[in-house]
Amino acid sequence: MSKDKLWGGRFTQPTDRFVEEFTASIEFDKRLYHQDIRGSIAHARMLGRQGIIATVDADSIVGGLEDILARIEAGSFDFSVSLEDIHMNIEARLSECIGEAGKRLHTGRSRNDQVAVDIRLYLRDELGEICTFLDKLVDSLLFQSERNLGVIMPGYTHLQVAQPILFSHHMMAYVEMFGRDRGRMEDCLKRLNALPLGAGALAGTTFPIDREYVAELLEFPEVTRNSLDSVSDRDFALEFMSASSILMMHLSRFSEELIIWSTSEFGFIELSDSFCTGSSIMPQKKNPDVPELVRGKTGRVYGNLMALLTVMKSLPLAYNKDMQEDKEPLFDTIDTVKGSLKIFADMIREMKVNAGTMRAAAARGFSTATDVADYLVRKGLPFRDAHEIVGKAVRYCVENSTDLPELTLETWKNFSESIEADIFEAITLEASVNARKATGGTALERVKAEIERVKAGRE
Ligand code: ARG
Repeated sequence: MSKDKLWGGRFTQPTDRFVEEFTASIEFDKRLYHQDIRGSIAHARMLGRQGIIATVDADSIVGGLEDILARIEAGSFDFSVSLEDIHMNIEARLSECIGEAGKRLHTGRSRNDQVAVDIRLYLRDELGEICTFLDKLVDSLLFQSERNLGVIMPGYTHLQVAQPILFSHHMMAYVEMFGRDRGRMEDCLKRLNALPLGAGALAGTTFPIDREYVAELLEFPEVTRNSLDSVSDRDFALEFMSASSILMMHLSRFSEELIIWSTSEFGFIELSDSFCTGSSIMPQKKNPDVPELVRGKTGRVYGNLMALLTVMKSLPLAYNKDMQEDKEPLFDTIDTVKGSLKIFADMIREMKVNAGTMRAAAARGFSTATDVADYLVRKGLPFRDAHEIVGKAVRYCVENSTDLPELTLETWKNFSESIEADIFEAITLEASVNARKATGGTALERVKAEIERVKAGRE
């Protein structure tokens, strides 16, 4: 019975067809084929070197695995659901191809430590790619910041006009966020980068294996220290998914701003046609589908994190089949994050900035009221009194449908005797922006310096 199963020995009845399908992971874990083969080659080399299997067998295993790799990459490998997962699909085919030697590969190893090493290898590669995509997005942000240096827009709090800022300063805020995201990805790599292979099913192995040698072959700077933990740890996936959730949160905020900014009411930016779609009924529509979808996909990434946290919750040590449920949310998170970063990098680079509209909006909403208050403070008034005076001036403007820059010196003097002719130049948009010179402020020279600092840090 169960002749094709690698574990058929103790069974007398075949597996129920539906159970077979239900328990199989091959449909989604086949994407681990490269890492699985890489791990197996390292394991086989170590077994041969340690004299646990004959060197000829080790060599023939390595050759057989390389053939299988080529076949999978050529698309001519038949994956079988009855062989459950990628590990058994490859191992069974190996034995079919090279005979007896193939059956020696699994010596001193279990699928539990095998899958753990596969996922770590896989995620390690993907982390590198995600960092590259993050860098590309930051490149696009730097490109827009430099191209639009000097463009003034309204800065908001509560989505109400607050103070004028440079558009580049706004873009550079995202550079900070994505910089931290990159840091979190690198940090995740530190803990992920340890070899779990050698833990066996859960307790270690009776064979004289050399884990350090395998670690060296697979470029892991260290080996994991406890066999139970090695096979039951999925923290690295959770850390990655947490970091991804924060990253997507950033992208969702950015998306939201792009969506608002491209409304006809705002008109701050225009997304390139290639990142928008039309409506099947309303001929005038150009919808910002890409940022909307990225905003929506943020929910999927949070959901994936919740799914895996919930799978892992209360699981007793060590491996449990529940853990097979780690892969789909992990893979989906990787795909979603990569896709979102890639499309954002291109969309941001092509985005058109309407400097005039931004500037006009920055001039409305009494955005320089704080500058008047600061002006009065420089003339010797306490800030609270200055705040009160400017509040009254704003109320006057609202009631008389005018604006702060329109007030005559005479009118200003009704609010405070300390106000003099230099008020006019103190409350221009440029003066307002450029007065904020301390580190982190929106002054042109400061933003330029930040752009340079970030660029220098990436060379
Ligand atoms: N497909 C399994 C998984 O992804 C591999 C490990 C199976 N181990 C076991 N003891 N059933 O988790």
